[in-house]
Amino acid sequence: MGLKLGRLFGKKKLKQEHKVLSQLQSRHEAVVPEYHRPTPECPHPERWSMYDSMTAEVEVLEFLRTLVTTIKPELIVETGTFSGISTLWMAEGCKANGFGRIVSCEFDPLVYENAKARVARSGLAEWIELRNESSLEMAVEGRIDLLYSDSDLPIREQEVRRFLPQINPYGLILMHDASSHLKEVRAAALKLEQEGLISAVLLPTPRGLVVAQKREGRR
Ligand SMILES: C[S@@+](CC[C@H](N)C(=O)[O-])C[C@H]1O[C@@H](n2cnc3c(N)ncnc32)[C@H](O)[C@@H]1O
Repeated sequence: MGLKLGRLFGKKKLKQEHKVLSQLQSRHEAVVPEYHRPTPECPHPERWSMYDSMTAEVEVLEFLRTLVTTIKPELIVETGTFSGISTLWMAEGCKANGFGRIVSCEFDPLVYENAKARVARSGLAEWIELRNESSLEMAVEGRIDLLYSDSDLPIREQEVRRFLPQINPYGLILMHDASSHLKEVRAAALKLEQEGLISAVLLPTPRGLVVAQKREGRR
């Protein structure tokens, strides 16, 4: 059973993350057509599905799992756990590989507790280390093979810069919410590319996904 979020968060004005978590729970995690607005690169967002406006599109979740089985990362870092759904999809990939570890951080304590409960009942906890801290303070040991940046939009650039020295040059960097409508993350990825730090591909999904690699890995 999940935590009773409505009761946990009380009746005061809900923070967006808390509101979306409550809605996710009251809808019994039903999947609905994606409702982010059409963009020139993705004119039919309704062809995608989503749990809610925070969790990555279902097709992106499938992509994350497949990416994990395709590149077989030993260390995955995720920023922005939210409900833990994306963490669990990547953990499915680690389980299929038979190795790998995901370190995922969520700085909101209530959101973190909810994700912790979900991970505990998932049967995938052995692949996951959840941290209740900010991505801008979190220390992770080791070489990162896959970075999934999915926290607060304005800090995604900082996150990538912060973890860049630790990222495997042959590994991958993913930045979610990089659509032309959401602008900020797309601009951050293009700036990092212009500076010669990464090479980026912009996947035309409803919310946009950057798939990038450190420039030094392109030898
Ligand atoms: C878009 S949601 C993450 C969705 C999740 N990755 C998924 O697809 O299922 C963003 C989350 O990042 C958290 N967050 C915002 N700033 C953060 C930071 N600096 N460090 C860690 N988490 C942060 C928010 O509380 C929110 O739960």
